[in-house]
Amino acid sequence: MKAHLCHITYQLLLHRRPCSVVNSSAIITILYWRCDPQSGEFIVMASTIVNMPLNVGTIKGLDCLSHGKFNANALPIRPSVSSLPHRRMLVVKASTNDGPIKKLGMSDAECEAAVVAGNIPEAPPVPPIPASPAGTPVGTSVDIRSRPRRNRRSPVLRSAFQETSLSPANFVYPLFIHEGEEDTPIGAMPGCYRLGWRHGLVEEVAKARDVGVNSIVLFPKVPDALKSPTGDEAYNDNGLVPRTIRLLKDKYPDLIIYTDVALDPYSSDGHDGIVREDGVILNDETVHQLCKQAVSQARAGADVVSPSDMMDGRVGAIRSALDAEGFQHVSIMSYTAKYASSFYGPFREALDSNPRFGDKKTYQMNPANYREALIELRADESEGADILLVKPGLPYLDVVRLLRDNSPLPIAAYQVSGEYSMIKAGGVLKMIDEQKVMLESLMCLRRAGADIILTYFALQAARCLCGEK
Ligand code: PBG
Repeated sequence: MKAHLCHITYQLLLHRRPCSVVNSSAIITILYWRCDPQSGEFIVMASTIVNMPLNVGTIKGLDCLSHGKFNANALPIRPSVSSLPHRRMLVVKASTNDGPIKKLGMSDAECEAAVVAGNIPEAPPVPPIPASPAGTPVGTSVDIRSRPRRNRRSPVLRSAFQETSLSPANFVYPLFIHEGEEDTPIGAMPGCYRLGWRHGLVEEVAKARDVGVNSIVLFPKVPDALKSPTGDEAYNDNGLVPRTIRLLKDKYPDLIIYTDVALDPYSSDGHDGIVREDGVILNDETVHQLCKQAVSQARAGADVVSPSDMMDGRVGAIRSALDAEGFQHVSIMSYTAKYASSFYGPFREALDSNPRFGDKKTYQMNPANYREALIELRADESEGADILLVKPGLPYLDVVRLLRDNSPLPIAAYQVSGEYSMIKAGGVLKMIDEQKVMLESLMCLRRAGADIILTYFALQAARCLCGEK
């Protein structure tokens, strides 16, 4: 008898209306069923509970999506929705419709007396041991006590012992924006676009919110004519990023907007800082500009400013600048361990921000270094960072774990453009299963210790987690 496993998810369909319920969440129960081919009955094997933040809304209805061949509506489930004071909970009950099991109307004493008298009620026999194929070696039992496979032998046990979870709440969705009205595909990042800030962007954010991704980070493609050696466009209050923040905050007040703090999109040299004649990247002068940039973003309504420039002392300076302007509530996510990585290639194409000369090795970290991340961690902690980020992600899992083990602050991992593009390319060429590799890579970042993950897969992965794909 071959067990047919499939899973079913229940989803909350939400009205989109101005948020009255901020930070509400839904608990979605995913049930794994086995279909008994003899009786045709569905037997619950396991359930997984996903706690998803839902931005707004009332529950309009229930949509049942089946991933099996059978009709999900015929399943013996009675979905019911109950509301708790501060959250909406979806409870999917796995009870059957058979009704209560028939009783004979005997008292406890009569039942016991019947058993004592030898009239033992019937229960199904233990099923026979399934046959092994002919030729299977016999009497080959290995003399071991510890058998880790015991805890992996059924979906129920596996889900009971699963150590790490992945939820759309963990994702921050990086979005590229430009001044145009059309969305321009990014050649090196299949599925990613430079989004029109008033059109494509707003639609993309709405799609993400529908599946529980309510955090984004913005990256602007700035017209060449606005770039300069000192990157002053970075703190233009009416520049592309502040304008976009104001638009999004007006539409979605509970959306959490992260911004990038660095000069590269605004620098005619394509560097994160101001470049001196001899090619040296000026630290303190750059920090001065970054403070103005961060304040301008905060003024527009940014929730978390994220210095990705790797200048020394920028976190403390930005903290002081924000506080001086009354933005004590705005968080700083510091790119604590940002490596001089070749995995950023597709991103630089997306923003047309390749350095005009040289590389970023005098400010970004050497990929060969591990301990050095601790120096950056200590600086960022003492300067008042709220979140510590490691970048890239998957090739630097050891650094994610290092930060996790050495700081109580939340840790972020950035699955960068090159990591995204490799998975996409492998999927297109049918060398790997794109969806499975995507979810596994994200789970691994969580396992290594990341609380949140910046990933271009945010929407696609959240849709998978919600059972949409
Ligand atoms: C620049 C910045 C970069 C990325 C995020 N912010 C590129 C760089 O440092 O050259 C890369 C992100 C990615 O590759 O997905 N401040």
